[in-house]
Amino acid sequence: MPLDPINLYDYEARAKQVLPHNTWDFIDAGSMDEFTTRRNRTAFEELTLRPRFLRDIGEIDISTTVLGEEISLPVMIAPAGSHMVAHPDGELATVRGAGMSNTLMELSTSSNYSMEEVSEAATGPLWFQLYHRGYDLTEMLVHRAEEAGFKAICLTVDTPVPSPKERDLRNQHTRAFELGNFRAMDRPESEISGTDETPGWAVSRAVPITWKELEWLRGLTSLPLVLKGIRTAEDAHIAVESGVDGIQVSTHGGRQLDSTMGAIEMVPEVVDAAKGRAEVYVDSGVRRGSDVLKALALGARAVAIGRPLFWGLAVDGANGVHGVLELLREEVTRAMAYCGQTSVRDLESNLINIPYGWGPGTMAP
Ligand SMILES: Cc1cc2nc3c(=O)[nH]c(=O)nc-3n(C[C@H](O)[C@H](O)[C@H](O)COP(=O)(O)O)c2cc1C
Repeated sequence: MPLDPINLYDYEARAKQVLPHNTWDFIDAGSMDEFTTRRNRTAFEELTLRPRFLRDIGEIDISTTVLGEEISLPVMIAPAGSHMVAHPDGELATVRGAGMSNTLMELSTSSNYSMEEVSEAATGPLWFQLYHRGYDLTEMLVHRAEEAGFKAICLTVDTPVPSPKERDLRNQHTRAFELGNFRAMDRPESEISGTDETPGWAVSRAVPITWKELEWLRGLTSLPLVLKGIRTAEDAHIAVESGVDGIQVSTHGGRQLDSTMGAIEMVPEVVDAAKGRAEVYVDSGVRRGSDVLKALALGARAVAIGRPLFWGLAVDGANGVHGVLELLREEVTRAMAYCGQTSVRDLESNLINIPYGWGPGTMAP
């Protein structure tokens, strides 16, 4: 009888054992040299915690809210296409796992189950992650998401062109499952496919959306709007000026533009630029409870996990996703205790050592 996983890397190792090679590569790969994927991790390692002792840590509360939605831990499920590659119940299993841990799931435009099916299976809050693939499709998706009870629209902005994931090209990987949100729609593949599930340079078609069209997008719905993939103060400034409600700092797990900084490194300047006018979240490389605490100490409200959801799914479906989240819950709580903190909503400053050169004003002008 194998031991239960004791950390997320155990889930990763087991997922690698059970998944076919090409599927593993599809989930694991970053683009090009995978520099950014690695840097997402090494950047977290550069931040260190400052423990504080001899305090009353009898009750530690790690619950918080994101855009007003209660979540029991500051960890959400990041949007990712094609959960069926890891488990036949795909996003239905993921949303059940998220619900078991009382947290929020961001559902991808490129899910295998439709947003209505996922909403039906959900017991916790959902955001709809939008890939803009044309005005009529965006309008249709946003209206359906609102109708199905999603609590926010999260527009992914960091995929202006398709990304080459060279492992997928070498494996001649192709998408194996249908895209639930476009089922029975008579649309050519190139119009509905995203850059995450369709490897290659020429397959997906990028439909331009610019800051100008944000107003149009906001006009389609009364739901709050989150922008995912922002990583500079410059863009964060425009985002808050445009009235967005949330910014999810992300490198897309290093799966789009390679050769950028790690996402966590960009949090200080984005938080500074947002000036409390938008909530800031971060994903990319979160693997430990201490990573979560570091992100929160830099001013993020919550984090999201991408690849680990696939590991949980592959190992044990909904229970695996729940297992991944519960390990993080335990680790966040332990890190809080060591740092003498009792509430994630009210963290003390000076909780972490920030390397010289990080933060507002230290990047390119
Ligand atoms: C297999 C896979 C598919 C993804 N699909 C999407 C997607 O459809 N939309 C999106 O905004 N991000 C997508 N992402 C990126 C995640 O939302 C997230 O930014 C990233 O996985 C976080 O990094 P991590 O995997 O290191 O946790 C995908 C990531 C993976 C691994």
